[in-house]
Amino acid sequence: MTTDPDLAQATTRRAALVQALADSGELTDPAWRTAFERVPRHVFVPYFYDHMGRRISADDADTRDAWFDAVHEDRALVTHRTGGAATSSSSQPSVMATMLEALRVEDGVGMKVLEIGTGTGYNAALLTHRLGNDSVVTVDTEPDLIAAARTRLTETGYEPNVVLADGAHGHPDLAPYDRIIATCRIDSVPPAWLRQLTDGTGSDAGQILAPLGNALVRIHRTGGPLQAEGCFLPGGAYFMPLRHGTVDGIPVRRPALPTGKARRTDVPASALADNAYRFLLSIVEPHLDWQYDLDDAGKPTAARVWSPDGTIAALHPDGTVTEAGPRSLWSRLEEAYRVFTEHDGPGPERYGLTVDHEAQRVWLDGPGGPCWSLRP
Ligand SMILES: C[S@@+](CC[C@H](N)C(=O)[O-])C[C@H]1O[C@@H](n2cnc3c(N)ncnc32)[C@H](O)[C@@H]1O
Repeated sequence: MTTDPDLAQATTRRAALVQALADSGELTDPAWRTAFERVPRHVFVPYFYDHMGRRISADDADTRDAWFDAVHEDRALVTHRTGGAATSSSSQPSVMATMLEALRVEDGVGMKVLEIGTGTGYNAALLTHRLGNDSVVTVDTEPDLIAAARTRLTETGYEPNVVLADGAHGHPDLAPYDRIIATCRIDSVPPAWLRQLTDGTGSDAGQILAPLGNALVRIHRTGGPLQAEGCFLPGGAYFMPLRHGTVDGIPVRRPALPTGKARRTDVPASALADNAYRFLLSIVEPHLDWQYDLDDAGKPTAARVWSPDGTIAALHPDGTVTEAGPRSLWSRLEEAYRVFTEHDGPGPERYGLTVDHEAQRVWLDGPGGPCWSLRP
């Protein structure tokens, strides 16, 4: 097998990575530890693209060593590109471990898991190693990814249900699912996922774990099929978006810089580099793009922020802002900053999500706190 240059060496390198994940506290569950030790990531990631877009591959003598090192490091690796943009990756193993542990699966009870975003098939292999072939369903929209993942899964002895489908619709044919795990970012929870969750309101209720904005949210059913609630987990989670068409996820061209009158603002450039504030912005304005100017110490001094609707704001080093476009983007950022500072700069773990028939709301410090409606 071309991607298996030295099985013993790969096993040793994988064991070292697993030990590092355990030492850092990201991999604590012995059953997931065994899965990470056994499933060979290098088979699922036979090549990737570096930050210059160069292909680093097991089949290329010039890049083979770099490839072998990278697949055994705690790195996210871009594995698919469309029009110059990254459209699939093998996620960072530490993030995968965090998500799999947060999924709270139980062994030996026939739990069924739906994964949205098959990608390389590596995460599906980890799930299948632990839960068995019949318990895992994985979907992706990219036909070539699905075909390659199927081949690699078979090669490594795993046979979950691998389905070419738009994950926004889940996979009703094999529902209900005890767990749904998304490995791509959502802006709101697709109603199909809620409908395909296992019934129940107690500890047996179906659960969804997904990157929503820049963090992971875990919600469980609280009543009828469209009622669910849960909390965000600490720390960030930066995933590719769930695509609704071929162009989603490809960076939006920056609109022309605003030339209008500058006004003062209380939002400092440093806030834009604060992950906690950025999390709130990822909820309030999910599709922002950014550029910064940094000083010698690497601190932002100025920034441009824009949205796909053509709205742009430029924050200048003197603390003023200029704007252009169909609405005031900066006012949204200012309002979010006011809430953020009034509540002492909360991280994602202080937010939660409530879903019912009418709306999906992210709240801060409880369902009665400040809240933001998610757009479907
Ligand atoms: C970070 S990658 C997934 C990594 C994967 N779990 C693995 O172990 O390699 C995100 C994946 O989500 C997929 N994706 C994006 N939009 C999707 C959609 N609407 N339905 C299903 N998959 C989607 C992408 O094609 C991509 O493969």
